Amino acid sequence: MQVLGIGVATLDIIDTVASYPAEDSKQRAASRRLSRGGNTANTLVVLSQLGHQCSWAGVLADDASARQIVGDFERHHIDIRWAKTLREGVTPTSYILLSRERASRTIVHYRDLPEFDLEAFSSIDLANFDWLHFEGRNVSDCLYMLTLSRRRAGHARISLEVEQPRDGIEQLFPLADVLLFSRAYAEAMGWYDPLELFAAVRRDNPAALLFVAWGDVGGWCFSGEGDAQYLPAYHPDAVRDTLGAGDVFNAGVIHGLLSGKSPHQALHQAIEMAGKKCGQIGFDGLGGDCV
Ligand code: FRU
Repeated sequence: MQVLGIGVATLDIIDTVASYPAEDSKQRAASRRLSRGGNTANTLVVLSQLGHQCSWAGVLADDASARQIVGDFERHHIDIRWAKTLREGVTPTSYILLSRERASRTIVHYRDLPEFDLEAFSSIDLANFDWLHFEGRNVSDCLYMLTLSRRRAGHARISLEVEQPRDGIEQLFPLADVLLFSRAYAEAMGWYDPLELFAAVRRDNPAALLFVAWGDVGGWCFSGEGDAQYLPAYHPDAVRDTLGAGDVFNAGVIHGLLSGKSPHQALHQAIEMAGKKCGQIGFDGLGGDCV
């Protein structure tokens, strides 16, 4: 199937530390690696390994980081013909600490590039895509992009990742078929129980299919028929790298639904893939069907 992802690609500078540093302290990292990151980019890299033809649309600068990102996209056969390269600015960069003690990650993200905008989006030929995946970021442009997608690609299904609260992001919800929430979004909104999140979102969006990844607790989905469904997290033998586990969860949902699976089966796929990802470094080798 053909998937277009509209969102961010970054250069991730990932330092593994024994434990989180105290403020104003100094410690040495146990290891460092540089890799391509970004939510949509991570999701596409996994979808590509699952056999989908993926295209990425986003913004890069004209610098060494962008060349590394492009190299990784090429390695994963991801088409970037719709991406924009700007002369000014630097490619988005994330400084990431992976704590061995807590098995968690902390991200400081830097960007000075404008977001991928409506003008760039309107030049994309949407005719052949089966699925369009958006990161809910620049809300006003995203609103128009989603509206345009509905008009020009009525045959394609649309997913929207809702990772962080942003002003007005709820306006985007009715325009997507599948809403992919993060626990961070739910908790920032004051919903500490996924069912409260679903109840609130469902009130204004009765048609959307809802998913939420809840870290090491597991995930939920709600199709509007019957009750919300829960599956516990899949725990790998050891947690090695949780960076991007949510992005892999999203890939699992999209792949499951594209393969004709039920929402519950897609959730199963997503949970297993996200768990498997936490047991390994990076995103390679996540191509096998788990369920
Ligand atoms: C992980 C990730 C990283 C990136 C950051 C951007 O989900 O996509 O690869 O640096 O988040 O927010």
